[in-house]
Amino acid sequence: MKAVILAGGSGTRLYPVTISVNKHFLPIYNKPMIYYPLSLVMLLGIKEVLFIVNPSDIESFKKLFGNGSHLGMNIKYTIQEKPNGLAEGLVLAEDFIGNDNICYMLGDNIFYGHDLVRIMKDAKKEIETGGGAYVFGYYVKDPERFGIVEFDEEGNVKSIEEKPKNPKSNYAVVGMYFYDNRAVEIAKNVRPSERGELEITSVNEKYLKDGKLKVKLLGRGFAWFDAGTHDSFLEAGEFVATIEKKTGLMVGCIEEIAFNNGWITKEELIKLAEPLRKTEYGKYLMELAKKP
Ligand code: TTP
Repeated sequence: MKAVILAGGSGTRLYPVTISVNKHFLPIYNKPMIYYPLSLVMLLGIKEVLFIVNPSDIESFKKLFGNGSHLGMNIKYTIQEKPNGLAEGLVLAEDFIGNDNICYMLGDNIFYGHDLVRIMKDAKKEIETGGGAYVFGYYVKDPERFGIVEFDEEGNVKSIEEKPKNPKSNYAVVGMYFYDNRAVEIAKNVRPSERGELEITSVNEKYLKDGKLKVKLLGRGFAWFDAGTHDSFLEAGEFVATIEKKTGLMVGCIEEIAFNNGWITKEELIKLAEPLRKTEYGKYLMELAKKP
């Protein structure tokens, strides 16, 4: 399985902050927003990652991640000329994806919770063995803002709608999707919605129609932030700060995960920590390297 992380978009809900800077570089507490989805992909054991980026941001992304070799990874970039919608990323990623399955992540979504990685691994395994699409639902107070999934009495998915005026449930589909290879062809056939975007919900709807969409609900033990508004951005930062201070462990620390995965050596970890030595982040990495 390969991972595609969407890191383009217009970021208008964070204006005026994001007029001149791409939101994915903004700090969620002590690290760039984009570290969080990348860290989840890494926790899944996926080394091959493609970032979909805006034309004006590609150099900044390269400055941040390069080709990924310092993390023992293989990172690539593809430009999305205009923010035409989430489904377009699948089309743009076609060559990168090849014949593989896909873990598709939104660059501004942040997840935290017990057993999250196991749940993601289950989804990955299910796609790798049985195909189809596997997405996650999360209870929200403002369903008009999201892709919303409706269930019948038996818990089967009945419908899925993008930003419904009259939502049929409060379960939003979060920004982490697992697809088999068909997703690329499905995305190619998606037509723009009323708001002019190629919606990921249309891709999910097609899988639903074919009886190949699985939705797993993330319960109240999970935190999910779509950090794309001023409030949720702040809440996500405060949440991460609280967790990190309470546990003494970092959330979304990509160097730590690379090290724990055995993708980089102790010496390489120290080399990554060195330029960060004035920060708690750098000290954390140094401590990690010192552990027996
Ligand atoms: P959104 O937050 O839905 O859209 P946006 O980033 O354009 O922001 P706003 O609504 O405030 O104008 O996007 C979800 C994620 O997907 C986010 O990380 C940006 C990314 N994205 C793309 O990469 N390409 C796109 O065409 C769109 C719409 C979003």
